[in-house]
Amino acid sequence: MNHLLSMEHLTTAEINTLIQKAIEYKEQGIQTTQFDNKYVANLFFENSTRTKSSFLVAEQQLGLKLIDFETSTSSIQKGESLYDTCKTLESIGVNLLIIRHFQNEYYEELKNINVPIINAGDGSGQHPTQSLLDLMTIYEEYSSFEGMNVLICGDIKNSRVAKSNYFSLKALGANVMFSSPEAWRDETLDAPYVDIDEVIDQIDIVMLLRVQHERHDNGDVNTFETNSYHEEYGLTQARYDQLQAHAIVMHPAPVNRGVEIDSNLVEASKSRIFRQMENGMYLRMAVIDYILQTKGEQTNAIN
Ligand code: CP
Repeated sequence: MNHLLSMEHLTTAEINTLIQKAIEYKEQGIQTTQFDNKYVANLFFENSTRTKSSFLVAEQQLGLKLIDFETSTSSIQKGESLYDTCKTLESIGVNLLIIRHFQNEYYEELKNINVPIINAGDGSGQHPTQSLLDLMTIYEEYSSFEGMNVLICGDIKNSRVAKSNYFSLKALGANVMFSSPEAWRDETLDAPYVDIDEVIDQIDIVMLLRVQHERHDNGDVNTFETNSYHEEYGLTQARYDQLQAHAIVMHPAPVNRGVEIDSNLVEASKSRIFRQMENGMYLRMAVIDYILQTKGEQTNAIN
């Protein structure tokens, strides 16, 4: 694996290797300097708190040297393209690029960049490291994915997390279901749409998605009032009370409290929302380690 761009590019064996490595880092709690001769640049063209911060901590735990790059003060502001920016960083010796970009599959224009790329989110496309940290969190709970009933609720069409988790969970043998307003369905994904109230007492994992206001056109924005969304599709206290004893609640965050989930439930006993964030740092260490270790063993092609 030379890049991590989308979940379909990973085999289930690679997914399991990354989860095991992340768990190893978490259990050992060690600081390592194994990559102290490597340079990394984090290119975030969309806002981020969790992904950017956890990559920063992971990079420092592994000893990587960080290039100070902010889109707001870079030559992006003078019109330099993403390709030329990445080629510039390659030319000056950067060994790893972490990129979040508003354009779906932005990496297609980076085929001639000879530096490993980790996709930290592409538009409404994919968010592979979020999916991997979600899988790690599920694995910690159940030690398996086979036959798990997973309900992914909300803004499926605009969510890169939904797509990445759909592909990875299906590949790992989970039963994936969606619950969503009609306007936010993605009919390209082959999973059944269900009524949350008909399945809430049978599912093992309920995965809530942020309502992505920034990706909606005006029609979508006006389709749902906050209160009606919460009542019709959100995790209310009444729905939480129907969950099985072993069931867990996940959300990639940031959370719209009172919309996708009752504010009082964000830190409830079944919630793994902050565990997901904790796991994100270890998982990103594992991905960086895996990519830098395997660099050179395969071609550089983005495919
Ligand atoms: N879950 C997630 O990607 O959060 P950020 O946008 O804060 O990185």
